[in-house]
Amino acid sequence: MDFGIKNRLSKIFSPKTGRTVMLAVDHGYFQGPTTGLRDMKNIVPLVPQADCLFVTRGILRTSIDPATGTSICLRVSGGPSILGELSNEDITTSMEEALRLNASGVGMSIFVGAKNEDRTISNLGRLINEAQRYGMPVLAITAVGKEMARDGRYLGLACRMAAEIGANIVKTYYCEDFHKVVEGCPVPIVIAGGKKLPEMDALQMTEDAIRAGARGVDMGRNIFQSDSPAGMMKAVRAIVHKGATAREAFDIYQAGRKKASAAEAVDENENKNMEKV
Ligand code: R5P
Repeated sequence: MDFGIKNRLSKIFSPKTGRTVMLAVDHGYFQGPTTGLRDMKNIVPLVPQADCLFVTRGILRTSIDPATGTSICLRVSGGPSILGELSNEDITTSMEEALRLNASGVGMSIFVGAKNEDRTISNLGRLINEAQRYGMPVLAITAVGKEMARDGRYLGLACRMAAEIGANIVKTYYCEDFHKVVEGCPVPIVIAGGKKLPEMDALQMTEDAIRAGARGVDMGRNIFQSDSPAGMMKAVRAIVHKGATAREAFDIYQAGRKKASAAEAVDENENKNMEKV
């Protein structure tokens, strides 16, 4: 692996722990203004807590401070909306654009077992061929779509295929026997969070995934749809980078939640006092 790819990967995976907390906020590219991402201002305070932000170029340009110290992994595929055939994706953002935006990686979905499986795999191959030329790591995302069976056999197949085509990182969902998915995949795996779960369940899933060999998370809804997104970021970081248990992380989340409620109460009081003036 050449210097450029290694250097960029070190902006995604912490050189201290070898792991990453990526914050996924790309959902709008096919879901529109998803709950929690309607106003991207809500995301801004979370960005410094992430090792890497997984985002489209549109949101990067409009909503993210260019002086951010958080690295960027750019979602470069798209096409169909949630109303259409999700596997009908193509590459939507050029490598030149990814370089101009100073991305540390680019990411796209593959749809193994879906209608356009073969096209998404050849798109991945083409993206990797181009990315290699510029020292740009590629993240392949597997198993998006409600109809996909998210079991070890399917995820093992999809992750291995992504790695064989040449992806540097694979993002997939957690499942039972996840260690087998990790064992069969020669490149780092990060987990997506999936749909919003109770906070304790999301933290338990994170702990289980890390114990099974995941190198981190690329998590969205379980953070930005939480009643304390900042608390959840801290809690997930504690598991990924410090080896905290889900129980310990849950206490961190709750502390963040209390802090946020206290700050809201102060704001409310100040507003009431202002009304009197
Ligand atoms: C989905 O297509 C996107 O790639 C998301 O980035 C990914 O699913 C992670 O977000 P979440 O944790 O909300 O599943």
